[in-house]
Amino acid sequence: MRSSLVVANWKMHGQKSEVTELLSAIKDGVKRGLARAEKVVICPPSLFLGQVEHELAGTEIAIGAQNAHPQTKGAFTGEVAFAMLKEFSCSFVIIGHSERRELFAETDKFVAEKFLAAQAQDLIPILCVGETQEQRESGLTKSIVLKQLQAVITEAGIEAFSNAVIAYEPIWAIGTGLTATPEQAQEVHATLRSFLAEIDQNIADNITILYGGSVKANNANALFGQADIDGALVGGASLDAEEFLTICAAA
Ligand code: 13P
Repeated sequence: MRSSLVVANWKMHGQKSEVTELLSAIKDGVKRGLARAEKVVICPPSLFLGQVEHELAGTEIAIGAQNAHPQTKGAFTGEVAFAMLKEFSCSFVIIGHSERRELFAETDKFVAEKFLAAQAQDLIPILCVGETQEQRESGLTKSIVLKQLQAVITEAGIEAFSNAVIAYEPIWAIGTGLTATPEQAQEVHATLRSFLAEIDQNIADNITILYGGSVKANNANALFGQADIDGALVGGASLDAEEFLTICAAA
C-alpha cells in the first residue's frame, strides 16, 4: 500500500552508547507527536540490530537492515542471512544501494537475487536505483534507473512489487549536499511509476517510492510536496535526532 515512510540508513556509523542516545531522542520525539511511529524505519549496522530491537520494543517504529546475503546459510564469511534479520524483528531491508553496487561490485542480477531472498523471508525490500553524475549529464538517467528496475522485474515478476518499496537515489546527491531539485526527483519518480503502470496499474498506484540523496530538514517539505515522492531514505541527516524528526514530521 502506498504510504509515506522515512527510512534512516545509518550506514557504518554509531557505537552502542550513540545508538541508545539517538533512539531515545527519536522515541521521545514520537511520543511528543513530532513524528508518527508507523512512518519511521531505522536501519542500523547489522551488529546493532539486537540492541535496536530491544530499545524499540513496545513502539511502532519499524526496524530494517542495510544488506544481507541471498543464501539462507553456508560458508559466506562475514555475511548475514535474511532469515537472521527476521529473528531481530526486521521488517524491511535495503537492497541494491549504490554503495553496495559500486564498492562491493553487486550486479543487477545479484541485487535481484537478494530482492527475492528478502521476500522469501517476509521482509519488505527497499530497492535502490540511481544514476551517476556522468550518466545524468549524458542524458542516461531514465534508461539507467529503468534498467535497474527491469532487472528485478525480470527475475522476480511484477507481482513481487506489490510488497516492495523503491528508492530513487541519484548517486551524485548521496552524501554530497547536492540534493536533486524536487522537480528533478519528481521527474524520475514519475518515470518509475509510469513504467510500472504500463505493466500493472494497480501496483504502480500502490507502490511507495522514496527519494534519497542529501535529504535534510530544510529540503524535505519541498521534496514531499511532489506528487510521486512518498517519503525519504535518509543517510547523514538520520544520525541527528532533531534533523531526522523534522524530516519525519514533513512526511
Ligand atoms: P545522504 O542522506 O547522506 O546523502 O545518504 C543518502 C543515502 O544513501 C541513503 O541511503
